[in-house]
Amino acid sequence: MSSIPRFPDGFAWGVATSAFQIEGALDADGRGVSVWDTFAATPGRIRDGHTADVACDHYHRFTEDIALLRRLDIDVYRFSIAWPRVVPNGRGPVNTAGLDFYDRLVDALLASGITPMPTLYHWDLPQSLEDDGGWLNRDTAARFGDYAAAAASRLADRVSDWITLNEPFEHMSLGYGLGVHAPGRERLLDALPVAHHQLLGHGLAVRRLRDAGAETVLLTNSYSPVDAASTSPEDVAAAAAYDTLHRGLFTDPVLLGRYPDLRVFGVDELPFLHDGDLKTIAEPLDGLGVNYYAPSRVAASPEGPLPFALTDFTDVDKTAFDWPIVPDGMRRILVELTERYGDALPPLWVTENGCSFPDGPGPDGAVHDESRIDYLDGHIKAVRDAIDAGADVRGYLTWTLLDNFEWAEGYHQRFGLVHVDHDTQQRTPKDSFDWYARLIANQRR
Ligand code: BGC
Repeated sequence: MSSIPRFPDGFAWGVATSAFQIEGALDADGRGVSVWDTFAATPGRIRDGHTADVACDHYHRFTEDIALLRRLDIDVYRFSIAWPRVVPNGRGPVNTAGLDFYDRLVDALLASGITPMPTLYHWDLPQSLEDDGGWLNRDTAARFGDYAAAAASRLADRVSDWITLNEPFEHMSLGYGLGVHAPGRERLLDALPVAHHQLLGHGLAVRRLRDAGAETVLLTNSYSPVDAASTSPEDVAAAAAYDTLHRGLFTDPVLLGRYPDLRVFGVDELPFLHDGDLKTIAEPLDGLGVNYYAPSRVAASPEGPLPFALTDFTDVDKTAFDWPIVPDGMRRILVELTERYGDALPPLWVTENGCSFPDGPGPDGAVHDESRIDYLDGHIKAVRDAIDAGADVRGYLTWTLLDNFEWAEGYHQRFGLVHVDHDTQQRTPKDSFDWYARLIANQRR
């Protein structure tokens, strides 16, 4: 019996996944090539040369996977739509066969009593758009709006809840700043236009989704409470700079209609900002998606290319990814967002939270992932604490259903409630799966 306190009536429970990480079938039904296909096929980019060619073969096994969702008895399933399946070249003809897949998925979810919550973009940009500059190119924002309209015109008669982008900060910093994710560019602060063009694409997509009848539209960002590594003025300033880049840059324009002051990065004008852009970016939202995994500790980095450096946590337990386990960071970030943005803040949704551990079946064939249960238990309680402290949180979606293709880490990091044998595709629900199912059942009693 879970000791998790009762959540408010109507609070939604769910899980989240993303297309490239689970679908496989990269050549199926006219799908175009994405930046992640290209990146994963480039030697040295992904740990041990893993690729997502098969991933969890979800494209062919989605019925089996929805049966797992039914066993959990979740309210909401967040998945992502692969842009290259819908518009293979990023612009131009829409691929009906690609949309058929999401049509079948949505119908199967609805038949199971599960609300679909698709994310339109979880980092799998069509390669043809990248060839023209990707998110450095303003035109990509307009193409994203068109793709949103194409997806919605097919699905919005049955799908009322949508998310535009997943974690535009990570996409900018890891993909265009540091080059550890696709498309592998290393532009550091010259990646800034990627922030703006993603946000512009978000705003354009919000309008197109609403035109097509969408009722609830969210943007999902990653958030992390930031502390300075020491009380020195340099470290305190560095922590503030990091917070500006991670949170402010991707939240202030959307909720407040203005960019934060970026002079600490030597940026005093934004040449990519056109008249009217901020109005588009600040289209009212029905919710803000919060992905929380771990807090950040930041020190000054006088010699570095950026004014801050993330420092290690030596005082807390960590996941297999070496991420510090700090459940109270969840409460903190939800409360901080509430306090910082006040009336401008729409309802919050935890759209991802989870952990990787190297778990696998034991001699009894079961997967006893106590560490994941502890992690989830602590973080879900922290969501409840945040609600008590005044945060308006409407749902919690854990990351993730299946052990999947974890980007540059390949199959090395297992985040799933369900163990996947990547040779046989056998799915084995872990103990955390049963724990989560019990938690949801108890909340409904
Ligand atoms: C991403 C997921 C990813 C997870 C764990 C989030 O940043 O949205 O795609 O698998 O973190 O790294």
